[in-house]
Amino acid sequence: MIEVCNLEKTYGDGENRVLAVNHVSFDVKDGEFLSIVGKSGSGKSTLMHMIGGLEKPTSGKIVVDGQDIAGFNSSELTKYRLTKIGFVFQAFHLETQFSVFENIRIPLLISGVDFKEHAPRIESVLEQVDLTEKKNVPISKLSGGQKQRVAIARSLVTGVPYLLADEPCGNLDSESSEMIMKLFRKINQDGKTIVLVTHNIEAAQSTDRIIELKDGRII
Ligand SMILES: Nc1ncnc2c1ncn2[C@@H]1O[C@H](COP(=O)(O)OP(=O)(O)OP(=O)(O)O)[C@@H](O)[C@H]1O
Ligand SMILES: [Mg+2]
Repeated sequence: MIEVCNLEKTYGDGENRVLAVNHVSFDVKDGEFLSIVGKSGSGKSTLMHMIGGLEKPTSGKIVVDGQDIAGFNSSELTKYRLTKIGFVFQAFHLETQFSVFENIRIPLLISGVDFKEHAPRIESVLEQVDLTEKKNVPISKLSGGQKQRVAIARSLVTGVPYLLADEPCGNLDSESSEMIMKLFRKINQDGKTIVLVTHNIEAAQSTDRIIELKDGRII
């Protein structure tokens, strides 16, 4: 479970001070599929980056499975990200010159997973995202929807319980977006807890619960 408690993020100071996330509190239950919506600049990505351990809160708590990650040092945060969180971004963040297989392998290498386990684990997530036949293809030869499916497979390969997706369909046409949303719903049914940021209200409506942010606050 993720418990966000009175979370604040302020950038800059004086005249340049921006209150990006303004004392936000909510829970994400295990197995839940939650979406976060709100206008550009409302604080969605800042919130996701804090939950994902990519950015430090100014104040407040983020309790994940009983541990407050806001107090973690950098090595604790690295371990937290590797064991708990899968991140999927709008811009994919894949190594375009490498193959599908090599991209999905990266978190296994970083986590020090036994080499013997790499191929079976990668094949299993490739099956989940229906890309088995693209295993040895370089990323540069894939469509946007296929790239996002590789990114999702990479986020799942270490077996993390939480998936954070920030506008994963933002660069995709409507057909690919619907396919990615279907895949998220399947992954959620298979037991992953998902937090999705989206501009697409229809996509949000297909999740369990919607939180709307405005000027850094939940409305
Ligand atoms: N690194 C930063 N330095 C200073 N201000 C920042 C930084 N990152 C975000 N902000 C500010 O914080 C506020 C929230 O930004 P954030 O990126 O979280 O919005 P968002 O809801 O994700 O928007 P979008 O829908 O455009 O992605 C904005 O006013 C933004 O300008
Ligand atoms: Mg954003």
